Amino acid sequence: MRLLVTGGAGYIGSVVTARLIADGHHVIVLDDLSTGHADAVPAGADLVRGDAREAGALLAGGIDAVETHLIPSILAVALQGTGQVDIFGDDYPTPDGTCGSGFSNREVLTACQDVTEQRIPFRIAPRRRVDPAVLVASSHRIAADLGWQPAYGLRQMAADAWAFACARACA
Ligand SMILES: NC(=O)c1ccc[n+]([C@@H]2O[C@H](COP(=O)([O-])OP(=O)(O)OC[C@H]3O[C@@H](n4cnc5c(N)ncnc54)[C@H](O)[C@@H]3O)[C@@H](O)[C@H]2O)c1
Repeated sequence: MRLLVTGGAGYIGSVVTARLIADGHHVIVLDDLSTGHADAVPAGADLVRGDAREAGALLAGGIDAVETHLIPSILAVALQGTGQVDIFGDDYPTPDGTCGSGFSNREVLTACQDVTEQRIPFRIAPRRRVDPAVLVASSHRIAADLGWQPAYGLRQMAADAWAFACARACA
């Protein structure tokens, strides 16, 4: 099949693309390279550089937002030394009021500040219409069926992402 993968130059999308190619599909990656990398697109896929919101508008009648991974967004502020992290709302029904994916935005920010040893500037911006208060991917099924257990916690994920960002900046 000919398949379109949006964000295929990113972390999740590049792995999905590689798997689809291995399964014999022809993959077109649509990515604006805002956080992704052209060299992360697996060999055999066609990379089209563009904004999924525009293509999505043509294909699906409109997409409200394309979520990008929070940790690289925070670390980019630390790496560049300018700008600030936007936290969209601090009055959600969660322990610290910010929305999150298992960890809250503030918890992720704190972990990034710890591993970068920087005080990363942030501001509380208005809520975005499309954000849920809590979004959690459960690992119960993979633990029950395959015995898989996560080996790393938030701090290690932030440390690995920081090492990756620094290595790319120095390359
Ligand atoms: N990384 C994880 O562990 C994880 C876990 C659960 C869910 N997710 C979700 O999966 C999605 C991808 O995460 P990721 O870690 O691969 O992030 P990523 O930043 O590595 O990849 C996102 C990709 O999308 C591209 N992109 C962003 N906006 C675009 C636009 N408007 N048009 C075209 N391309 C655009 C970026 O350039 C990048 O290549 C996110 O929604 C994230 O919240 C990630």
